[in-house]
Amino acid sequence: MTRLNLAILISGRGSNMEALLSAAEDPAYPAKPVLVASNRPDAKGLQTASAAGIPTLTIDHKLYGKDRETFERALDKALTDAGTEIIALAGFMRVLTSWFVTRWEGRMINIHPSLLPRYKGLDTHQRAIDAGDAEAGCTVHWVSAGVDEGEIIAQAAVPILPGDTAQTLAARILPEEHKLYPRALALACEKIKTA
Ligand code: GRF
Repeated sequence: MTRLNLAILISGRGSNMEALLSAAEDPAYPAKPVLVASNRPDAKGLQTASAAGIPTLTIDHKLYGKDRETFERALDKALTDAGTEIIALAGFMRVLTSWFVTRWEGRMINIHPSLLPRYKGLDTHQRAIDAGDAEAGCTVHWVSAGVDEGEIIAQAAVPILPGDTAQTLAARILPEEHKLYPRALALACEKIKTA
């Protein structure tokens, strides 16, 4: 069985990254982590990944100022050098240019904490509560040029309960993210392998 070389991009806590690393401990899982990269040197997830024996790297976007392209070229080189075949964005808080997205099109997925196409962008939990929605959730999708607009791979829903705050709702959705992302990444790998 071939396992695709997986790079995970993070910016912070890294709990979704951790869920992917745990799934990939199974030698039968279709992706094998080769790199965890962060755009922030203080991302907590970097320590978790190192402790799990995964190579880590920081490419600090602040060192590049407004020059997104040079930042992305450095990131792209690191990914290529690691032999990356599929990228999972896991709380990666940089908008990627169309140059980068095009380079990795069909090989890059993201997890977003809403039931897309509702609530692209930020503050998804509060926006779902404010709209009076009965349910909220999370989506894993292919990354395409428009932010949070790529084809959906899988979704999971939870109820919005009376008295929910953005925090309580986020806490109900997060465990669903951790179950959904490994499943959706496996589906994405199958699609790449059969393409
Ligand atoms: C998650 O809610 C994810 O859906 C969103 O950012 C958050 C990242 O959390 N894109 P973590 O870093 O994976 O813990």
